[in-house]
Amino acid sequence: MATTGSPELLSLAIDLVRRAATLVGDSRSAAVTSIETKSTPTDPVTEADRAAERLVVQGLAAARPGDLVLGEEGGFRPVGDEAGADAVRWLLDPIDGTVNFVYGIPAYAVSLAAEVDGVVVAGVVRNVVTGEEWTAVRGGGAWRDGQRLRGSGVTELSRALVGTGFGYAAERRQRQAEVLLRVLPRIRDIRRIGSAALDLCAAAEGRLDAFYEQGLNPWDSAAGGLVAEEAGLLVTGLRGAPAGTDMTLVAPSTIHQELHDLLVSQD
Ligand code: IPD
Repeated sequence: MATTGSPELLSLAIDLVRRAATLVGDSRSAAVTSIETKSTPTDPVTEADRAAERLVVQGLAAARPGDLVLGEEGGFRPVGDEAGADAVRWLLDPIDGTVNFVYGIPAYAVSLAAEVDGVVVAGVVRNVVTGEEWTAVRGGGAWRDGQRLRGSGVTELSRALVGTGFGYAAERRQRQAEVLLRVLPRIRDIRRIGSAALDLCAAAEGRLDAFYEQGLNPWDSAAGGLVAEEAGLLVTGLRGAPAGTDMTLVAPSTIHQELHDLLVSQD
């Protein structure tokens, strides 16, 4: 069941993500005048986030009325309350990297994934500014613009360029900074790009050797996580747990354990 129809789900996702990315790109100058905040004063949401989410939700509702959407800006449940027996759950971040969007830093993306029976089976991430688009269907490899992706070939943690990110709440940031203090001396360097979806795709490309972040939401990591996994990277949590809000750790098998142990020793 988990992979049935995945190429069709991916096609639908690509179409909607492209349309949403165009909307987000076109509306940047207007949208940044309408910034509100969400979880904390540093967590912005713009009219563009909401409009892009509406566009994707309406497109999904028209194409697959029995499905569910979990969207960063609220999502929706199908009319009639009951999802169909073969319902897909869509995980949508209409703008991942909203702070970059607000500041005009060219690293923000639309991210959409399809999940069946709790398993992500298809995903697409599109950088709104560069137009780079990463896709994956479970079992079918990771791709960017026709090129198959295989992650980094790094063999030593000390040579690894590692991406990470920080949440919006001050207490979480304090803990994340403490972890970083220990990680930084053990690696080549750190990157904080500002979009977890793009970080995960960068890891799939080998533009980052590895990535970790605590506190990601499912809509941040679902599509990019599948892209990274399909590129051959290990995508896990800590101590045998699956990747999730507690920790998303992405690395080639050569350095995964060492980075894992470094994170465990401090969590
Ligand atoms: C955020 C970005 C950021 C990550 C945060 C996320 P948003 O998503 O992915 O890189 O560090 O944890 O919340 O708010 O821009 O959609």
